[in-house]
Amino acid sequence: MNKDLLSILDLSADELDVILGEAANLKMLRKAGRPHEFLKGKSLAMVFEKASTRTRISFETGMYELGGHALFLNPSDLQIGRGEEIRDTARVMSRYVAGIMIRAYHHEHIEEFARWSSVPVINGLSDREHPCQIIADLMTIREHFGKLSGLRLAWVGDGNNVCNSLVLASALAGYDLTVASPDRFQPPGEVVERARAAGGSVTLVREPGDAVADAHVVVTDTWVSMGEEAGKAERLKAFSGYTVTPALMRKAGPEAVFLHCLPAHRGQEVADEVIEGPQSLVFDEAENRLHTQKALLVKLMGREIGGP
Ligand code: CP
Ligand code: NVA
Repeated sequence: MNKDLLSILDLSADELDVILGEAANLKMLRKAGRPHEFLKGKSLAMVFEKASTRTRISFETGMYELGGHALFLNPSDLQIGRGEEIRDTARVMSRYVAGIMIRAYHHEHIEEFARWSSVPVINGLSDREHPCQIIADLMTIREHFGKLSGLRLAWVGDGNNVCNSLVLASALAGYDLTVASPDRFQPPGEVVERARAAGGSVTLVREPGDAVADAHVVVTDTWVSMGEEAGKAERLKAFSGYTVTPALMRKAGPEAVFLHCLPAHRGQEVADEVIEGPQSLVFDEAENRLHTQKALLVKLMGREIGGP
């Protein structure tokens, strides 16, 4: 296992499979009220440059339930906000905590942290990827369909960080992904090429109807990600016609499910009837952030780095 999780492709297919299995196990233990303090006495530093509900609460609660502790750190309260270098901060933090989770505007900042940190670094969302979200999404899909391989997934909307991790994970999980987005908002070419080079099946189309036809899973995300607020008007215009509506879900068929990482904007990327409808698994998906994060934390922090 790699020391860090910066990209979903830091995991192998087998490691992803193990994490999904352990997440299901941890979910069972929690529901049965059985203790699972696998990280007793360990601390996780959580650095958030951007807002968060799910990522913060699931990591913080997850560490508590594993017998450990999490520190919420706002960069403006750290010396990093006054110019202390990442390479110094990362080395200092590594002397105190067993792992570091970072949500950052620039993916390169997380890479720099990982380069200088001697403890595992986890990407809690960057401008490039959101690997933790996709592990939870895959758990949710596997719970529902009992498998990932051979399924047809459709992404409708912005080819952004969450989409990128879903594109890359196709190389690990064996599903076929079709992405429908306006030309300017397709996932970056290098991400698609990387996924295909690793064995992923990714098709890019423009029309949402072409992506969702016969899909098992329809996924979307906000049209205006954190940090992109300046382009909001242009984006709302470009994405008109990309709302996941009941009519679009009908093209996928009655067995299809709907996923959204949340927060959602009803009337923009998704219609209220879809997110509140019987095909929506969004709250199971949000819950699974907790179980998958715990599994990931145990995998990354539950042993000595460099140990057996
Ligand atoms: N899906 C997700 O990462 O949500 P938060 O921004 O609330 O953490
Ligand atoms: N694409 C969204 C995901 C939020 C969890 C963003 O980056 O804001």
